[in-house]
Amino acid sequence: MIATTAHGIPKLGLGTFGRTGEDGVSALLDALEIGYRHIDTAQSYDTESSVGEAVRRSGLARSEVFITTKVADTNLAKADFLPSVEKSLETLGVDGVDLLLIHWPSDKDAVPFEDYMLALAHTQEKDWAKRIGVSNFPIALLEKAETLLGAGALSTNQVELHPFLQSPKLTAYAKEKSLPLTAYMPLAKGKVSKDAVLERIGEKHGVTAAAISLAFLMAEGHVVIPASSSPDRLRENMTAIGVTLDADDMAAIRALDQGGRMIDPDKAPEWDD
Ligand SMILES: NC(=O)c1ccc[n+]([C@@H]2O[C@H](COP(=O)([O-])OP(=O)(O)OC[C@H]3O[C@@H](n4cnc5c(N)ncnc54)[C@H](OP(=O)(O)O)[C@@H]3O)[C@@H](O)[C@H]2O)c1
Repeated sequence: MIATTAHGIPKLGLGTFGRTGEDGVSALLDALEIGYRHIDTAQSYDTESSVGEAVRRSGLARSEVFITTKVADTNLAKADFLPSVEKSLETLGVDGVDLLLIHWPSDKDAVPFEDYMLALAHTQEKDWAKRIGVSNFPIALLEKAETLLGAGALSTNQVELHPFLQSPKLTAYAKEKSLPLTAYMPLAKGKVSKDAVLERIGEKHGVTAAAISLAFLMAEGHVVIPASSSPDRLRENMTAIGVTLDADDMAAIRALDQGGRMIDPDKAPEWDD
């Protein structure tokens, strides 16, 4: 059984970036069979239709699978926002999603912050989204969001996090605000499996370095959404939920932080860490 955050987000989910078409559907069906119940997609991934199809083909009830999608930064303008969400629901084949995120804040405020954040809140009022949140938001924008929407309105901020990029300032802020972060690229694209410290701790707990990375992030209070198309690795990543790291393990993994950001496009905001 996968634990959930206070806002009801399953702490381990499945990423779908780059997993399009029939291969993507097949990986999703494997994941649902293995026990994944939280799937992360986005308007820009071209995986919304595969997610909808896999959930329908799995035979699981819609209520059993937690679906997140994200509004692309190209759809933040007033005229585009709600129609784009309506289209996402149609592509997914659902009445509403469990979590709707702003994928990236508008670069250089090309779209006013209030416009897209109020549109996001409106999707919740329309029951198109059970929860709302953001992605790639630094502390300054989270503060603005709290002023606009009130404390506790957002269920998560999805950001790049792994043992080599632990973002201590953002993590401390999120803890203080009881806002769980969702760690994207929690395996640093597979790089964690070659790390000697994670491997050693994995041997001690009878799991792999990848599972230790995920267990560490969850122990830090984050949600994790690793991606894999291999049933073996999907199972391996799931073993993280049974790992309890001790204080020595946590200290050794915290020491791996090197601010190693892998995703930093021109449109990115000014990061805190
Ligand atoms: N909000 C955003 O801006 C944003 C940005 C990036 C990503 N995301 C989300 O976060 C999800 C996860 O990120 P990601 O897919 O980029 O990276 P990731 O989950 O850190 O790594 C995935 C890579 O690691 C490999 N892998 C998976 N399990 C493994 C294991 N146990 N041992 C060794 N290698 C393993 C996978 O290959 P195999 O398939 O061969 O196993 C794949 O190449 C995405 O799919 C997406 O949903 C969000």
